[in-house]
Amino acid sequence: MRTEPFGISAAAPDDIVRMAELEKICFSEPWSEQSLCSCCQNPEYIFFTAKYGDGRIAGYCSMRYVLDEAEICNIAVAPESRRKGAASALLSEMIKTARELGLKSIFLEVRTSNEAAIALYKKFGFTVSGLRRGFYEKPREDALIMIRSLEIEEEI
Ligand SMILES: CC(C)(COP(=O)(O)OP(=O)(O)OC[C@H]1O[C@@H](n2cnc3c(N)ncnc32)[C@H](O)[C@@H]1OP(=O)(O)O)[C@@H](O)C(=O)NCCC(=O)NCCS
Repeated sequence: MRTEPFGISAAAPDDIVRMAELEKICFSEPWSEQSLCSCCQNPEYIFFTAKYGDGRIAGYCSMRYVLDEAEICNIAVAPESRRKGAASALLSEMIKTARELGLKSIFLEVRTSNEAAIALYKKFGFTVSGLRRGFYEKPREDALIMIRSLEIEEEI
């Protein structure tokens, strides 16, 4: 993997237009600019961006937490910026932040056909814990539920 020195930071209001653009590029049911905007104002959500040195956003992610559990809602990297470590840097930051918040586990749903994302999550210690049948639309597809404990000591 060729890694770039992406800067990871909390998303700012000015980043929302680009995040919505990434949603449209990466997902068949994208979050709109309005829903990103309202989630960014909700204290249960945390958004991070991965930026090149010149400020261009290569990718973004969002995480929601309730009680002692975090959910990764989305992680999206622009096609031309993939396989350079942006998602890894974003995921590391989410895991670190969830640990700092004292959360016990982190989970997500992923399309069963999404080999790239499944490989990414496995690399970061997530394991499959269940299946939600017909969870996704466009196209209709099952979701794998993947989970990672935050109580284990290993470095990421
Ligand atoms: C999945 C996604 C976020 C990965 O982003 P990325 O920045 O390219 O990922 P990284 O460069 O950090 O890759 C880390 C690891 O993930 C795995 N991986 C990433 N892309 C992969 C691919 N196309 N095929 C197989 N494994 C892949 C590899 O294990 C990789 O490590 P390696 O390069 O050392 O082999 C990106 O492909 C994407 O945005 N896809 C569309 C949106 C999406 O599906 N999001 C997930 C929703 S659950």
